[in-house]
Amino acid sequence: MKFIKQFFYGLSLLVIVIFSVMCKDEKKKEVTQKIEKVSIEKNEFGTTPDGGKVDRYTLKNSSGMTVDIITYGGIITSIKVPNKEGVSEDVVLGYDNLGQYLESSPYFGAIIGRYGNRIAKGKFSLDGMEYSLAVNNGENHLHGGIKGFDKVIWEASEETGENYAALKLVYLSKDMEEGYPGSLNTTVTYTLKEDNSLDMAYEATTDKKTIVNLTNHSYFNLSGDFSKTVLDQVLSLNADKYLPVDNTLIPTGEIADVENTPFNFREPTPIGSRIEADDDQLKKGGGYDHCWVLNGQDKGHRLIGTVYDPGSGRVLEVFTTEPGVQFYSGNFLDGTLPAKQGGTYKKRSGFCLETQHYPDSPNQLDFPSVVLNPGEKYSSKTTFKFSTK
Ligand code: GLA
Repeated sequence: MKFIKQFFYGLSLLVIVIFSVMCKDEKKKEVTQKIEKVSIEKNEFGTTPDGGKVDRYTLKNSSGMTVDIITYGGIITSIKVPNKEGVSEDVVLGYDNLGQYLESSPYFGAIIGRYGNRIAKGKFSLDGMEYSLAVNNGENHLHGGIKGFDKVIWEASEETGENYAALKLVYLSKDMEEGYPGSLNTTVTYTLKEDNSLDMAYEATTDKKTIVNLTNHSYFNLSGDFSKTVLDQVLSLNADKYLPVDNTLIPTGEIADVENTPFNFREPTPIGSRIEADDDQLKKGGGYDHCWVLNGQDKGHRLIGTVYDPGSGRVLEVFTTEPGVQFYSGNFLDGTLPAKQGGTYKKRSGFCLETQHYPDSPNQLDFPSVVLNPGEKYSSKTTFKFSTK
């Protein structure tokens, strides 16, 4: 009798132990699954002619969004997001291999710095000292120079949390690199979240007074079909004003009303509906290639624009802390660059929404300042958020 009692006692203890171990395992599984909702994976992407190793990081969430970023130029090489049927397709122009980026790229998906956009004649002054930058766009400086932030290898580190995965890219630009004063320590962090948003957080510090204006140069085609143009994709911009330009695309200094012009995107309007209008500014840009002065500049990170593709149902919302956005309608794409899906990228097969300070700000003292002093921190944040309707 005593033996039977002991046997049952032992058995129940065993059952309890097994059960609690099983529960613990279940809990562990739950936790791991949560951590794995957004993942990040690293692969080799290629080597530059001077022996620099380039990696590709793939950030993936469980809502169907995947983002590929390479350490060369911090370039977003692919963003796959679902259409209204739930089919994920690539919505950014770019290439499949490093060789093509090295050969010729109109800044596809890249981090742009130190100064995104144009500086007239490549000259500016700080405290009475004149600086000369590369003249690489007609008579002007464009997008950081000959070897801008889009053409350097960034140092990468990863971070994951329950509902996000982040790729932190760091680059130290030396004093007078590309003609810019001060050593600029720059960090760009890409964060993919479960809600199909991609945050880009920019930070920089300097050891000498300098200028900074960082952005990302992704070309979107929300249809997922790069053989199509973006002309029927519907744009809204929360901007009452824009900056008219001269023949070389430098702002004239006028801050013009969008009212009664083809630059009024306050109501959702197809990109192509007025692009061929008889308008002096559209002619100068060869289409849209202008900076809009965004509303709500005192409101920090806010919704500034939306693009909707009626065919796929995809919606892109852009949030930023920046005062301006360069809306570029891919006018210089000319059917010579090879597309990822085969064929070539033709005129207006992608659009860019480059959140930034105004072009030529160092020479236009009425524009918000782009000066960064030692001891200060440059910080800027832009989010691309995808959904469908
Ligand atoms: C920017 C400029 C355009 C063009 C593209 C790259 O958006 O504003 O004029 O130079 O970059 O081709």
